[in-house]
Amino acid sequence: VIVEQPGDVASFAASRISDVVARVAASGKRAVLGVATGSSPLGTYRALAELVSRGHLDTTGVSAFALDEYVGLDYAHPESYHSVVTRTVTEPLALDPRRVHVPDGLADDLPAACSRYEEQIRAAGGIDVQLLGIGANGHIGFNEPTSSLNSRTRLKTLAKRTRDDNARFFDSPDQVPIHCLTQGLATILDARQALLVAQGVGKAEAIAAAVEGPVSAMCPASVLQLHSHATVVVDEAAASRL
Ligand code: GLP
Repeated sequence: VIVEQPGDVASFAASRISDVVARVAASGKRAVLGVATGSSPLGTYRALAELVSRGHLDTTGVSAFALDEYVGLDYAHPESYHSVVTRTVTEPLALDPRRVHVPDGLADDLPAACSRYEEQIRAAGGIDVQLLGIGANGHIGFNEPTSSLNSRTRLKTLAKRTRDDNARFFDSPDQVPIHCLTQGLATILDARQALLVAQGVGKAEAIAAAVEGPVSAMCPASVLQLHSHATVVVDEAAASRL
């Protein structure tokens, strides 16, 4: 879906998510959202918050699972994904914090924390709609290029490009964590619906590779070509290399 402006990306994605929440509620269940961090989905969260505050979206009982978390970063750090998700998703969307999950990057046993996370997603009934951003190198979550297309939640090393891109959120580049926990590409493919949002010319190359390139571990987002219900929503700038 190509729309004109970044704001149109946000309103399209918010209305899609809101429809899913309403449809799941109508079937007597509670929706499970997959949420992404980064700047790309922030407009979508603001648009969803607006729907909630106007009474057009009821998030009672809705749960959420984040894609990823840095390893070793205190949850109280403003850039930990625990903090970011609380600030940008849980609070504005009036979600019950007990129903919002982020991988445990402080666990003593990280592989066990990854297995537990997969189990929590399964126990919640799976993800109804997974919102995604895309890294300039084609990553989704923190599945960097060369990630196995069949990967599950696991410990990964961040690519240099990702650490450089995310350095703007930290006081100095050497404070950007080196490792992370991330849902795998197969975990993401398990979501019943995937919704990738991107704005701006900086994402144009990654979007072209993901949508029109070969399915390849070199562009992890290209795995969405294998999903039976994936939507990529971009503004004209992000669509400029298609
Ligand atoms: C981050 C996140 C991804 C996000 C991506 C793009 O590092 N782990 O989930 O999609 O990189 O970030 P942004 O939207 O700020 O460009």
